[in-house]
Amino acid sequence: MLTPSRLAAARALHAVFGSGHRVGDRWDAGLSSEDAGLAQAILGLSLRHWGRLQAYVKPRLKDPSRGLPLGSQVALALGLAQLAWMDGVAAHAAVNESVELVSNPAVGFPPHKGLVNALLRRGAEKREALRAELNALPAALDRTPFVEAALQAALAPHHALADLEAMWMKLQVPPRPAFRVLRNEAPAELEADPQLPGCWKLREGAPFLGPWLQSGAGMVQDRSSQALMAFAWEGNPTHILDACAAPGGKTTSLSLRFPGARISAVEREPKRAERLKQNLADRGVKADVIIAEVADFLANSTGTFDLIVLDAPCSGSGTLQKHPELPWIAGNIDLARLSEIQRDLLRAAIPKLDAGGLLIYAVCSWLPEEGEHHRAWVRATHPELEPAQVWPHGFGVEAGLENAATSCFRPHPLRWDGEGFQAFAWTKR
Ligand SMILES: C[S@@+](CC[C@H](N)C(=O)[O-])C[C@H]1O[C@@H](n2cnc3c(N)ncnc32)[C@H](O)[C@@H]1O
Repeated sequence: MLTPSRLAAARALHAVFGSGHRVGDRWDAGLSSEDAGLAQAILGLSLRHWGRLQAYVKPRLKDPSRGLPLGSQVALALGLAQLAWMDGVAAHAAVNESVELVSNPAVGFPPHKGLVNALLRRGAEKREALRAELNALPAALDRTPFVEAALQAALAPHHALADLEAMWMKLQVPPRPAFRVLRNEAPAELEADPQLPGCWKLREGAPFLGPWLQSGAGMVQDRSSQALMAFAWEGNPTHILDACAAPGGKTTSLSLRFPGARISAVEREPKRAERLKQNLADRGVKADVIIAEVADFLANSTGTFDLIVLDAPCSGSGTLQKHPELPWIAGNIDLARLSEIQRDLLRAAIPKLDAGGLLIYAVCSWLPEEGEHHRAWVRATHPELEPAQVWPHGFGVEAGLENAATSCFRPHPLRWDGEGFQAFAWTKR
């Protein structure tokens, strides 16, 4: 019988390759913790090695020039990934369930039952050889132009080919989730991160903390976001703008840090705003949630702010480790348009910053169009904004400034364990 984990992984692959959708945060929500672990492992390997898996199959087809329907690609990729890289999965389970998948018209392509069965059985007879053959295929098969651009941008301006390969290898390891504890003691499943005060990691092998998170006693927050929000600033803000707020990680950090301030948390997408409201309510965070385009909200408001956090929508190129589907859907990303939107958000926010106030612009992306170019634009067009050195020296990349605090948060892509970010801080004269 088809297990829920394999069916869920197959559905997620259909969403990515059939509809160009991201794998949603809750794609495995209906699964037991054990099933979710298996589904995540199978899906992760299939996505991280999709290019190689297809390249392995192609020459084994009767007519390699004819592509396979998605249902057959998915069943084969799932089966091969388990046989090659998941020693704990019995060969018969990997083969039989892939055959069941391809026989299911909702997620498969029943006429290819025989093909899937034959190809996987051959792989199952010699799992070591299958693994060796797949591993020997060029890693570049799994990297799309978007990935190459992200890797090169992350390592710019100085990088060796060896760094690029090392970074790619680093991105292949699923990240260990990081948490912040908001109420009470940390649960026993968590251990303190020795390098980042206030950050907690799930202990090796511990189950994911769903109910604890739902209770609002803690939240998932990547190490980079935690380090970013630990900016050193002595201001005592009275009115904070969280310009792009859902799902509320940074709103929560702001409220913990500045409990006396009024926070306006603006979110454009109504569904995301609902989630934001719920998250804030569960965590006991007080903020005015405003469902609006932030530029409209600002244009219609007379208020100004002494702290603005603009965590802008972006390509997410810094999140490749957590989102292995990203390389395969990034063809739909319009980088020029995103960059324009980010610039417009900065244009709307800057006039609303009080003198002496702090503006933080952040994106989880390495691409210069989403970060460095905006910094240069601010430098050229807004002399009233002065870079604010609010992060410790290790986060900066400015040559010659390795020992100074920095106004540019750009964690090192090889030495830092966390998402890729570019963030900049300015104060207004
Ligand atoms: C990178 S996410 C923010 C993550 C959030 N700051 C956190 O730490 O949890 C960007 C959010 O901004 C929202 N957004 C994008 N453009 C917006 C706009 N013009 N006005 C308001 N919200 C916007 C998106 O819907 C998305 O929820």
